[in-house]
Amino acid sequence: MKRLAFLTSGGDAPGMNAAIRSILRSAASRGIETWGVFRGYEGLLSGDMIRLGWKDAGGIVCRGGTVMKTARCPAFMEKEAQARAAAFLRERGVDGLVVIGGDGSMAGAAALEALGVPTAVVPATIDNDMCGTEETIGYDTAVNTVLDAVARIRDTAASHDRAAVVEVMGRHAGHIALAAGLAGGAEFTLVPEIPFSREAVAASLRDMLREGRTNSIIICAEGAADGRELADWLSAATGIDVCATILGYIQRGGAPSARDAMLGAVLGAAAADGLADGRRGFLAGFMNSRPRMISYEDAFREKRAFHTAGWELALRIGAGRDIRP
Ligand code: ADP
Ligand code: F6P
Repeated sequence: MKRLAFLTSGGDAPGMNAAIRSILRSAASRGIETWGVFRGYEGLLSGDMIRLGWKDAGGIVCRGGTVMKTARCPAFMEKEAQARAAAFLRERGVDGLVVIGGDGSMAGAAALEALGVPTAVVPATIDNDMCGTEETIGYDTAVNTVLDAVARIRDTAASHDRAAVVEVMGRHAGHIALAAGLAGGAEFTLVPEIPFSREAVAASLRDMLREGRTNSIIICAEGAADGRELADWLSAATGIDVCATILGYIQRGGAPSARDAMLGAVLGAAAADGLADGRRGFLAGFMNSRPRMISYEDAFREKRAFHTAGWELALRIGAGRDIRP
């Protein structure tokens, strides 16, 4: 391989810059020329790509966001656009592309691979919802940000004898919610993977109040319910003061945790080295504390299980009541 390009795609995630640094420098250390594409697949369609060298990776390792910028690019779903992107990379002599992003971005990489572009994917999304890897870059930082917020919300909820609904990100998945619920001592953790009864949550809140438990935290994944609407509903159903906080984009920003910066370093190099060694069409995932190369087909075939036992534990040592219908 002579010329490697890379891009970041989908929602930004803390640790993407650490992955960029690692890709750039591991390729450069093997004498491979490196190019950065701006704004994900959008940059491939508009031809927005620059030559980057070793020094360009200086000082970015502990910065949140992505220095290459990112985008969601609906146009890239079209076959014609994918063919244009592949032609652009070929014209520019790019013989390897690393895509840093989530499973949508991986589907995009698979499309380019099918058009003859050698590709690799570095898993990065705060949602931690990808198959083929037990962890994605950005998840650990996001969970720690949520924990910090929950501790602050707990202080004020306790002072006012309130219940507090905290809505967290995760799109269709409840992994952030579960980790934050377990580690943050939430009374209730509501996730899209496990059906729950609002009436049971309301009844539990009333019982808990009778027992002298005057405040509680209800972590609600965005895919499980609308946090504000749920808080209003619970207030009306129980007569208890229930406030709502939608954490939103604060969860995506900030410097990467040590774990995410480490994952960025290890998986970025695994992707670049894999391509340089002639491998193609693979996800550089993380499994059992080490990098793991897995084909897109195998990764997409793997079903990501939700940690139901962890959810049950969070509830048992949180509210101590069941809320399933
Ligand atoms: P993530 O990569 O975090 O899952 P998205 O689902 O938004 O984020 O996907 C990022 C981008 O990947 C999309 O905007 C689109 O350009 C591309 N993409 C997503 N799904 C596909 C697909 N099925 N085929 C081709 N490209 C896709
Ligand atoms: O995929 C990461 C994520 O932050 C999800 O948790 C969230 O639902 C979505 O992106 C928000 O996307 P956008 O930045 O397009 O609003």
